[in-house]
Amino acid sequence: MTIPEPTDVHAAWLPPEAFRAIGSRRTLVQAEGPLAGTVRAEVEQARARYGGAAEGPYDLVLSLDAAEGADGYAIARRDGVTTVTGGDPAGLLYGFFHVVRLGEAAFGADREPEHHRPAMRRRMLDHWDNIDVHPVMGQVERGYAGGSIFWSDGAPRPDLTRVGAYGRLLAASGVNAVAINNVNVHATEARLLTDRLGEVAAIAAELRPYGIRVHLSVNFASPIALGGLSTADPLDEGVRAWWARTTEQVYAAIPDFGGYVVKADSEGQPGPFAYGRTHADGANMLAEALAPFGGVVHWRAFVYNHRQDWRDRSTDRARAAYDHFAPLDGTFLDNAILQVKHGPMDFQPREPVSPVILAMRGTRLAVELQVTQEYTGQQRHVCYLAPMWSEILAFENVAEAGDLVAVSNVGDDRYWTGHPLAQANLYAFGRLAWDPGLDPAAVLDEWIDLTFAWPGESLRRTLHAMMDGSWRTYERYTAPLGVGFMVRPGHHYGPDVDGYEYTPWGTYHFADRDGVGVDRTRATGTGFTGQYPQPWSDVYESLERCPDELLLFFHHVPYGHVLHSGSTVIQHIYDTHFAGAEEAAETRLHWEKLADTDAVDPDLYARVKERLDEQVRCAEEWRDQINAYFFRKSGVPDARGRHIP
Ligand code: GCU
Repeated sequence: MTIPEPTDVHAAWLPPEAFRAIGSRRTLVQAEGPLAGTVRAEVEQARARYGGAAEGPYDLVLSLDAAEGADGYAIARRDGVTTVTGGDPAGLLYGFFHVVRLGEAAFGADREPEHHRPAMRRRMLDHWDNIDVHPVMGQVERGYAGGSIFWSDGAPRPDLTRVGAYGRLLAASGVNAVAINNVNVHATEARLLTDRLGEVAAIAAELRPYGIRVHLSVNFASPIALGGLSTADPLDEGVRAWWARTTEQVYAAIPDFGGYVVKADSEGQPGPFAYGRTHADGANMLAEALAPFGGVVHWRAFVYNHRQDWRDRSTDRARAAYDHFAPLDGTFLDNAILQVKHGPMDFQPREPVSPVILAMRGTRLAVELQVTQEYTGQQRHVCYLAPMWSEILAFENVAEAGDLVAVSNVGDDRYWTGHPLAQANLYAFGRLAWDPGLDPAAVLDEWIDLTFAWPGESLRRTLHAMMDGSWRTYERYTAPLGVGFMVRPGHHYGPDVDGYEYTPWGTYHFADRDGVGVDRTRATGTGFTGQYPQPWSDVYESLERCPDELLLFFHHVPYGHVLHSGSTVIQHIYDTHFAGAEEAAETRLHWEKLADTDAVDPDLYARVKERLDEQVRCAEEWRDQINAYFFRKSGVPDARGRHIP
């Protein structure tokens, strides 16, 4: 095989230099089969570049031993020989990339055997790519890095080398599954399941050498739209037979096909409710069709009423997923995986962990994150998300989900992710899905070492200064204390405090002259806190015990309410917004010190600089709109007398 290395695209975390340590040594690959062939091809290419040898005595030996388990591997070094033992060919591939990550360090002092196994069985990226350019959402829904790497203007891309390169990057981070199309499955995209299946097979062929299975988002009403049936009722025999037959054809074309992703009865998508059936009925029907082939269905729990009356204070969007799904716990088939967004709302910069994840112990779960920065700066702002994800993953039962899924941030942009530093989010997602306990700063170091080929301390320090705390900086200058959604409706970029306040979307902050926040308590509010088990149920219910950063998610409080930090809510709003915008400006200063040095490529420098200018502008806009809004509502002046417009 040829290693996919498109020349017109940034190499991200796999530049040729990352393979120097291996390429300059003597390596033996003792394994057969397609994935072992990939490892062999990687080694040969590195060797051709850096002058290593295929003959012994060997510095590196890669072989198989089933004892390491599926996807697992052991790495050790003794008597001048580094050994990687894969539990299976995929494990061999992951072990190989472990050596790549270590670079020269893999060939230094002796190492005791270390065993590595992924925490998550499926480490998956969901693409929200459309085939046709959607009139509102574009080629990639919530995409901030150009068009799709799979399709362009209604047709598959003729050259899929880049898809292969993507698979290679993903494998190096540990990802093993990709859903290639948008969860909102429009008319054209629905046909990927049938007459456009060849396009899916072509993409699968590019990703297969890197151990990545392809999944497809399907439309629940496909039996009607594609099959000409009069119903999509999941209990109808004709419908079940249609799905069984269609699925069989998918597997005939793609024997290692991963399965389906379904967004049903959500934001206008069709689903089982139309037939008076439950979501378990719907999911199980597809699970049955997939089971003979070892496939799975990812059934999304993002189901809520998006036509709410804003005057109605009793309906609470945060409650919706639990209300719909918790009663169904234990009724899903084994290969029906409930895919739950990490928070109860929608990928806000700060949310509590969804109570669905704690409640559904009798159901296989996938936790869904958003790598694409819809609500975290849209890849114009530096926002390293690993610290947020690592907090989420540390919460009860999250790391026990079998699958970790995230919406991808990749497009046809030369840097893959628009903002070059947003590549770190993609990398970190894979690494945390493999090992949720990894330290985000250490993951960032890995990414820096690979991307910039083990740079000097000064670039490393600059990037840490810019990125380690960037999520918290973003949180500071945007919606305060977990209240969320003060963004411009529709595209979701930039501040608009009341943008969603009187809309049907169920995302409100209820600010008035006296206070702000959503009362979700059992005592006086929507009762959402009651969806949590103890201790969380009481922690979130209690004004005293609720963590500051989630206060306005759970409580409506007066502006004078004193936080654990000692500050009042109103003063906290002012302080964090002044601080956040200042931090954004400091982030830019760090980067500007690299100008006219040879620390980074000039083109990459310019791209990041242009984004930082926008971030600084936008952070000031956030600061001024939020501060002005709350000053005008509350009439409380800033205790430190700063200028509020
Ligand atoms: C968000 C996003 C939509 C997306 C939806 C989903 O609401 O704005 O574009 O379709 O999430 O996850 O289904």
